[in-house]
Amino acid sequence: MADRIIINEVGPRDGIQSQDGELSLEQRRLFIQALLDAGIRHLEMGSFVSPRAVPQMAGTDDLARSLEVPADVHLSALVPNTKGYELAREAGVKTVAVVASATDTMNQKNIRMSLDQTMRVCLEIIERGSREGVRVQAYLAVAYECPFEGSTNPAVVIDLAAQLLESGATELVVADTIGAANPAQVKQLMGTLAASHPVERLACHFHDTRALGLANVYAAIEQGIRRFDASVGGLGGCPFAPGAKGNVATEDVVMLCEQMGFETGVDMPALLEVVDLIGSMLGRTQGGRAHYWLSKNAA
Ligand code: COA
Ligand code: ZN
Repeated sequence: MADRIIINEVGPRDGIQSQDGELSLEQRRLFIQALLDAGIRHLEMGSFVSPRAVPQMAGTDDLARSLEVPADVHLSALVPNTKGYELAREAGVKTVAVVASATDTMNQKNIRMSLDQTMRVCLEIIERGSREGVRVQAYLAVAYECPFEGSTNPAVVIDLAAQLLESGATELVVADTIGAANPAQVKQLMGTLAASHPVERLACHFHDTRALGLANVYAAIEQGIRRFDASVGGLGGCPFAPGAKGNVATEDVVMLCEQMGFETGVDMPALLEVVDLIGSMLGRTQGGRAHYWLSKNAA
């Protein structure tokens, strides 16, 4: 059997959160449904955050309740704090994602907490999750570079990663929030983490700001990583991290993986239709680097 790569689609959260204008809940639901129909099995469906901070994510509770999820689909939602965790749990969400940024300033800008406070909250949610049957994925944001503090100290990332994994986070997602990493750095950091933790519990999240998204995915694959976040059409960006462009496009990552002989389970023609669908909902053409070529050649 071919080696499998898990694509965690984050378009419905990271993709939409920074777009001008809000999609209706029905549009968000149709978007998610189309992604599931294209074979996506891991998907971040939204976030339980302050609607004042991120109006695009308002109503994620109603959205979660309205989704009919097949047994093999793993839906997650981002929660920035305990209140978000409780709202997600009440809405029946089985997997939540907590986010610790590796620098103080980024935590302050994103969720108005220091790094220490953020880690306390994350560890508490991880601990509650394991008692209450909720899977908790931990994100380490600005793992390579922070828009406010510059280069991130890898020793800090390695220490925070160990704390999050040892406390029971199901996965650790190393996030290049602003798309500043290069493949040599990815090789170094993911290689170090993979030497101390099971690779099945490690994942990567790249943004394609400097067109290095796919190269970074490749560098992580070489270090044994088999779980990647991606956003269909290359949508995305964090409203609190200036300069961040879209996530690495799902269609680009699927193309890379499949051409290298990995299985993703994603149906490319159907995925390209989702690129068109979200483009029409947002009123702007979307598509990753390979979209033009894939549109003409994906069978
Ligand atoms: N979901 C919904 N509402 C929330 C909430 C959550 N997870 N956490 C707090 N709130 C509400 C509070 O109830 C309060 O509402 P009120 O004014 O009606 O009483 C209000 O938000 C302010 O609460 P407070 O604890 O003072 O929060 P804050 O103003 O310090 O903001 C966050 C903190 C985390 C809520 C806010 O910064 C946020 O939602 N950030 C989202 C960041 C994000 O999504 N980043 C991108 C992904 S990494
Ligand atoms: Zn992101």
